[in-house]
Amino acid sequence: MAATKLKITDAAPLLNSVSIPRLGFGSYLSTTNQCTASCLESLKAEYRHIDTAQYYENEKEVGNAVKQSGIPRSEIFITTKVVEPKGSIEKSYESLLNSVRAIDGEDGYVDLFLIHNAAVGTGPRKELWLALERLYKEGKTKSIGVSNYGVGHIEEMKEYASVWPPHVNQLEVSSPPQFSKPKGIVVEAYCPLVRNQKAEDSTLTAIAKNHHVSGAQVLVRYSLQKDWVPLPKSDTPSRIVANADVYGFHLEKDEMDKLDALDQGKNGSICLAVSNSL
Ligand SMILES: NC(=O)c1ccc[n+]([C@@H]2O[C@H](COP(=O)([O-])OP(=O)(O)OC[C@H]3O[C@@H](n4cnc5c(N)ncnc54)[C@H](OP(=O)(O)O)[C@@H]3O)[C@@H](O)[C@H]2O)c1
Repeated sequence: MAATKLKITDAAPLLNSVSIPRLGFGSYLSTTNQCTASCLESLKAEYRHIDTAQYYENEKEVGNAVKQSGIPRSEIFITTKVVEPKGSIEKSYESLLNSVRAIDGEDGYVDLFLIHNAAVGTGPRKELWLALERLYKEGKTKSIGVSNYGVGHIEEMKEYASVWPPHVNQLEVSSPPQFSKPKGIVVEAYCPLVRNQKAEDSTLTAIAKNHHVSGAQVLVRYSLQKDWVPLPKSDTPSRIVANADVYGFHLEKDEMDKLDALDQGKNGSICLAVSNSL
């Protein structure tokens, strides 16, 4: 698809043919008091994909927003992540089910369930993946994937996975492993706004000025044109709307190149730099 034709309704196919909306809404640090309201704002602004996690302690609030929105469940894509293994596949599976229940009720489902972090170790990675495969086979999650996995972690999964490769790898965009991912894994870009820490960067502000948009809008558009699935987070209604208003301009190749050149690899990481080795 030509970058100029990007639309807020765009979706990308996962390897199992499930469609994932290209623009997601992040919810890390969105508190229980705030999260439902922010997610409702995002749905009003036409986001159709919300990213939560056990670790964020707001799965229930995300689910409440989806219910309160009145939008059919089938039109909203919800991702969550499992934070830690529980000591057996059965116990970890129960922890996954608890998340599904919190988000979508007893008979509900999520659209994507991820292992949050590779750093739990080899045995726990296997335990969590096998629990996720069970949830997937039972239809309680429509797709499964990983987060903060390097190429070595993904290769290791071949030893035990019956679903391989994972459908998604969610990474901090400044981490290098995404450039050597196995074919077909969709890359989700977390911290796509670099948590606003680069707002004053002169390259970014010059590009933003050129298009009469904000630096945050340039960064979301950059992720979309890279074919990533960005997950910008905000609890500020005007920013929620603005961060999704990125379909009226196009970054030229030289601008994309300039933004690429800002990549500092692991040194630029503000959350977690992923290693390609185990
Ligand atoms: N898998 C993982 O390990 C992992 C790690 C980190 C994040 N994530 C996911 O990815 C999502 C995004 O990452 P993130 O939340 O860490 O960082 P981010 O989206 O890059 O930045 C969010 C921060 O930027 C501010 N902000 C938002 N829009 C803005 C704008 N237009 N102008 C100025 N500031 C703006 C927000 O403040 P306000 O809220 O006050 O507006 C918030 O402090 C998370 O929410 C989470 O869902 C996953």
